[in-house]
Amino acid sequence: MSRKRNIFLIGFMGAGKSTVARWLHRQHGMEWLEMDKEIERREGMAISEIFRLHGEEYFRELETELLLSLENKENTVVSCGGGVPLRVCNVEAMKRSGIIVFLTARPETILERVKDSHDRPLLEGHKNVEYISELLSERRNKYEAAADVLVATDDRSAEEIAEEVADHWAGFY
Ligand code: S3P
Repeated sequence: MSRKRNIFLIGFMGAGKSTVARWLHRQHGMEWLEMDKEIERREGMAISEIFRLHGEEYFRELETELLLSLENKENTVVSCGGGVPLRVCNVEAMKRSGIIVFLTARPETILERVKDSHDRPLLEGHKNVEYISELLSERRNKYEAAADVLVATDDRSAEEIAEEVADHWAGFY
């Protein structure tokens, strides 16, 4: 069975998933679903509150539930939370529903992009290159194993990155 025509953007926090998704939405007319925002909407609270009140495992269950509920989508770009590819069942659900694009970034680039925000509980108190490098290397194999395509984001504009993603998408089907 051929895969549905959707794009799942995966990668570490600060890889640019939301920025690229916004571009594809605006310039290519794709529907855009931001997983973190949708989870916040469904739960009626911020991600950091969900972590604080219910813990990370509860949040991971919400991510899986949300992904499974997306299986009927078409022409949608989904910006996934950075932890989504860590569960095999999530990767399987994404593979059934579309192509998976891994946006890569160096730890230094990630730090620059996340340093002023406070909505990522896993990075609070750890905003330094050493911590980001360590967590990234723990996750990199899973990101790479899940991905159909890798797109580098360092030193590139949102437009360049998003157009490369769009080209891969067009060529995939
Ligand atoms: C997480 C990434 C976050 C958010 C949560 C956990 C992670 O999303 O889902 O804070 O485990 O990498 P972004 O990648 O959109 O920042």
